Amino acid sequence: MKTTIFISRLIPRAGIEILENAGFVVEINQKDRVLTKEELLAGCQGKDGLLCLLTDTIDREFIDQMGQLKGIATMAVGYNNIDLAAAEEKGIPVSNTPGVLTDATADLVWALLMATARRLPEAERYLRAGEFKSWGPMLFLGGDLRGRTLGIIGAGRIGTAVGLRSRGFGMNIIYTDPEKNRVLEEGLGGRRVELNTLLREADYITVHVPLTEETRRLIGRPEFKLMKETAYLINTSRGPVVDEDALVEALQSGIIAGAGLDVFEKEPHIHPALLSLPNAVLLPHIGSATIETRTRMAMMAAENLVAMMRGEVPENLVSQKK
Ligand code: GLV
Repeated sequence: MKTTIFISRLIPRAGIEILENAGFVVEINQKDRVLTKEELLAGCQGKDGLLCLLTDTIDREFIDQMGQLKGIATMAVGYNNIDLAAAEEKGIPVSNTPGVLTDATADLVWALLMATARRLPEAERYLRAGEFKSWGPMLFLGGDLRGRTLGIIGAGRIGTAVGLRSRGFGMNIIYTDPEKNRVLEEGLGGRRVELNTLLREADYITVHVPLTEETRRLIGRPEFKLMKETAYLINTSRGPVVDEDALVEALQSGIIAGAGLDVFEKEPHIHPALLSLPNAVLLPHIGSATIETRTRMAMMAAENLVAMMRGEVPENLVSQKK
């Protein structure tokens, strides 16, 4: 009997080839959209392995019906969409794709930070609307970077890579993390602080924590109140880490200056007020979206799945005990 794999959405070819070259029979969702719960269940029926994405809800109900799976490989670093406890109870290993998307995501953080601070989308919309009549001394004034403080909430792989990139801009770094970060401290003079200190002192706040029950709504009304009126919030982690209603209020009433968001509380639904706020820059969750990075992610997910199908421990096993 051949090993059978379901891939919940078309991914870069290099990942599919790894599975095919391992001799597996691969079935891919042919619809160019996220599958419904029923469709995902139907696709996985009788399969040995699942290669899924962050848009798939792999909850207890799903796992209870899919006890035959020998492995679930998600093509993402974040795995908050997967009920690890339920998978572990059924003895189904789960893997993710850390590291390979660190640089692409950190690059996007800076693109978003500067687009927000320098009001690029707003300025571009103005030009395209034919409103650019002359250079203006007061036209689209934004925020400076040099000498300003970058506050990194969560100094893991991506938070560290974001910090490293600030060197060229001459910024000061403060960060929160359960552990001391030597790269940020010794290489960049960064300082580990409590969250409230970071919120009070930072000019640019960038969020890099995984979504867990502890980090859900980590940034809400009280946290916005601590921020400077000139502060910018950048979120490329997971939407629910920020209370979106509180963010909208903060942006509408000038509690903070602006926000750059690549992730949202209820993706793909966007809070309607955000859509009309000029001081919010909004992207459709494209942090890791480069050709090279998505190729590496697909290959890594496939390699993990091959290992799991062979009964081996995958390189990037995630476990609730981690
Ligand atoms: C993207 O958001 C990821 O977790 O890989």
